[in-house]
Parts: sequence; structure tokens; C-alpha cells
Amino acid sequence: MTQGIEGGGAGEGPAWWQRGVIYQIYPRSFQDTDGDGVGDLRGIVQRLDYLRWLGVDAVWISPFYPSPMDDFGYDVTDHRAVDRAYGSMVDFGRIVEQAHARGIRVIVDYIPNHTSFRHPWFVEARAARHNRRRDWYVWRDPAPDGGPPNNWLSAFGGSAWEWDAPTGQYYLHTFLREQPDLNWRNTAVEVEMLDVLRFWLDRGADGVRVDAIQVVMKDAGFRDNPPNPNYREGVDDPYDALLRQHSADRPDVHALIERMRQVVEGYDGRVLIGEIYNEVERMMAYYGQDGRGVHFPYNFQLIKLPWNARTIDAAVRRYEELLPPGAWPNWVLGNHDRHRIASRVGPAQARVAAMLLLTLRGTPTVYYGDEIGMRDVPIPPDRVQDPWEKNLPGRGLGRDPERTPMQWSAEPSAGFTTGEPWLPVAADFAANNVAAQRVDPASMLALHRALMDLRRREPALSVGDWAPVDAQGDVLAYLRSHGDSRFLIALNLGAEPASLGFEGAGETVLSTLPETEGGRVEQTIELRGDEGVIVRLD
Ligand code: GLC
Repeated sequence: MTQGIEGGGAGEGPAWWQRGVIYQIYPRSFQDTDGDGVGDLRGIVQRLDYLRWLGVDAVWISPFYPSPMDDFGYDVTDHRAVDRAYGSMVDFGRIVEQAHARGIRVIVDYIPNHTSFRHPWFVEARAARHNRRRDWYVWRDPAPDGGPPNNWLSAFGGSAWEWDAPTGQYYLHTFLREQPDLNWRNTAVEVEMLDVLRFWLDRGADGVRVDAIQVVMKDAGFRDNPPNPNYREGVDDPYDALLRQHSADRPDVHALIERMRQVVEGYDGRVLIGEIYNEVERMMAYYGQDGRGVHFPYNFQLIKLPWNARTIDAAVRRYEELLPPGAWPNWVLGNHDRHRIASRVGPAQARVAAMLLLTLRGTPTVYYGDEIGMRDVPIPPDRVQDPWEKNLPGRGLGRDPERTPMQWSAEPSAGFTTGEPWLPVAADFAANNVAAQRVDPASMLALHRALMDLRRREPALSVGDWAPVDAQGDVLAYLRSHGDSRFLIALNLGAEPASLGFEGAGETVLSTLPETEGGRVEQTIELRGDEGVIVRLD
């Protein structure tokens, strides 16, 4: 095992991915080293010392594979290489080596559902009906009226079917028309794609985050999806006009995930994480029969729910109740597809949110920049990059605002690049950046570091038990415990002062409000507006 990384395999107590904090890097926006305005793998290597200082245990790097960038890397043309804009396989090797030397694991993105339309497989598939690769993708004849074979919709707007005039058939694309769906019912596709998984695990990846896993298998009969009775025309995302009954979350996806898991189990201490946007009940199925599915399906509830103590309290309790025996929880506040937490709840509550994320039971994933409270950046129309915004402009669906360059310093372009950044840098970067926050004990960065440090020192906060605590109004409270140590976490999700009564006494070890001194509390915790505290109980 590489230096810096202890064993993480089974049978040694909690695994690294249970104890640790994952940090998501969107490589285009993290650190540029060659002045082309696009982040690169060398930039990640350069910032590993920062990540170690911060206290993260693993990085998940969004795709860096060769791609025409129609969906910024989620449209792959070669699954076993690095896009030149990001560097080379040698650079990937350096990330693994240098991250491992610092005790940081490396998780890569794995995109099984689709490729780029420029992938050599699709170029062949499209060339002729009888091409040997034709069946690697999903082709159907037109409906009797000449239109698409069924009513399925693309996640990015319009029909999920694209007409291919030269060969007289439609092909399926759950996402962009530039992202044709692979046909996993063809065993050759499965063999090839499972080998891609091995390729990255062989090169030292400590795990994979599986993109869009729930859409990989489709109804074999390609039945129409039923209308969504709750859909509000003109208000909701047009993709939600239909219930995705036949195009997503199909029962046969689970057998496939088991086979992915078997590949991962062939290596010591690796993790398989699934991207699943679905109802909590449905999400639970992805742990698989007897835990043979993903190690955990990403739990996006904190991204989707209104920021309200009672709603979140109910959601956490329910999630904990619904988890199958032995299933490991996880929590996420943001990612490259959703608006930033500091924009959704405001800067004061973003601090409370950080305490929530890093003290709930389960693996937290921190989205790059959230540790300094980065906010969504308004993107002028002429700088829009995201295809979703281009397809459906002005509806707030575009993902550029949460993908802007990491704010490292007050230098030009926030120290992200010496060139022209691919997306605009936040207007407030001169004040709001890593360098400034590193020396400010009251900063969001200092809070994140303190939370991660406490979490590392106190197993109660990472792998310990969780129990709900009854609270009212804007207060959300719960207990974490491990052996003799017990912590009470009390969070005020409102701007007004609030209090929480509890049995016993303890010592405040951390508050989200910087000027707070630790202190004894007994029977009541008085919280100021926007304050969260961690109390070590006697
Ligand atoms: C996932 C990714 C998203 C991408 C889509 C298609 O949802 O997170 O960024 O656009 O899959 O690959």
C-alpha cells in the first residue's frame, strides 16, 4: 500500500470512506497551471498541500477524460485517457502518488450511461445499420407517424430521441443529443465498460462516483412514460413533465450495479458511489440486496429541501429509519449541478449548514469553494457555457454559476489562471479567497478546518451513533456518541435567538459564530441567530 495511506479494506473497523470527508473537485475550475484559462491535473497536484491542511480525506475529481466538452467532460470520447486540456496519464499518476503520500484518497468519475457522439464507437455505430458497433447504442425505428419512437424526454430539454437521416433511425440520448446512450443490454458493452472500471482502479483510483446510474437500464419494451400529475407548466423543469417510469430506476439496474460492485471488490479498500436523484425510498434500493449495490447512493436531500429546521429534522429522522441494516449514510450540500449552498441559504446560514454537513452521521462531501463560502456567480449571456442554459435559457437551470473558478487569492483571476478564465471569477474575489481566509480565524475556511479537525479527533462525530433530539421552531438538534463520548449538536436555522432545553450539562467546543468562547452549558443552550454549536456532554 502506498505510503501515507493505511489499509482501508474490510474487517478493520470503519473504512476510510466511512470515517473521512470527500472533497469534490471540478477540474476545469480548480487550478490552471498553463494559462489556458482551464484548470488542469497539475493544478490539482499543486493544491494537494492545501487540501491536506484543510483536512479532507479524499478528493472526487469530476471527469478529465478526452471530450469535445459539449457537457464539459460528461461526454467522453476515450474512457482510458486524459484530455489534453487537463494534462496526461502521467499527471494522473502524479495525483495518485502525491495524494496518497498525503493520506488523501482519489475518486474518479465513471460515466456508464452515454458517450460523446464523437466517440469512435458511436462514429462507427452511426456509419451504417449493419455496423458491428450499431447495437452498442440504442437505435429504434420511427413511430408509425414518422416521429420519435416514444415520448421520452431529454434531461436537457426536448425529445430524448434524435433522428439520424442517413440510416433512417432514431438514437436515444437521455442527456444532450451529443451524448448518445450506450446499450447495456449488449454484453459487449458491459464487458468493455466494466474493463474501464478496472483500468482506473489498476491505476490507483480509490473509488468511483458513478454518473447517472439510475438511467443506465431502460424498459426493454420502450413504453411511453406517463404524464406527471403534479407538473406545473412554465414553472417546473420541462424534464419533469413525465414520470420517468420506463426510462429510469428500472429493476434490472440493480443486477448491473452488483456486477460493478464485484469489480470494485476485486481491489482492496475501494469505494463505489452512485449518483441517484430520486425519492429517499427509491434511493435505498441502490444499496442493493444484502448490501451488494453501491457503498452509498448520494443523498441529495439537503440540496433539495427547503432550509427549515422542522423539514430537515423530519428528513434526517426518516433517512436514518429507512437505511437498510448495515447501510452507510452520506450527506451533500452542493455539487457541480446545483446552486451553491451560500447562495441558497445566505452566508450566515451557510456556516450552520457546514456544521450540519460535518456532524451528521455518514460521509460528507464538500463541493470545492463551499469551504470559503463561494456563491453562485451571475453569468452574462455572452459568457454562458452550460448547454442546459443554452437549451432552456433564463429558467435558472444553468450550472455555470456554481462552476466558476476557485478563489485562491487577491491576484488577478483569483490566482486561478494567468490567462482568461473559461468562466468569470466572482466579483468579490479580492476579499473572499483562500489566502485571506487562511489568516482569519473568523473565516468560513477556519470554521471548515475546525469542523474537520474535530471530526477527525472525535470518532463520535464521524462513525459514532446518531440520535434525534426533540426541538422546536428554528432549532435542529441531535446527539452523536461513541463509547463514553457524547456530543449534542444544536443548530439555529433562523436569524432570531432561540433556545434548546436538554438533560444534563456540557462544554461548548465549537460555535459557528467566531467570537464565541467555549463555555459550560446546563439544561439550556441559548443560541444566537444563525448560530450552531457542538457541546461535549459530561
Ligand atoms: C450527471 C452529471 C452532470 C451531467 C449528467 C450527464 O448528472 O453530474 O453534470 O451533465 O450526469 O452526464
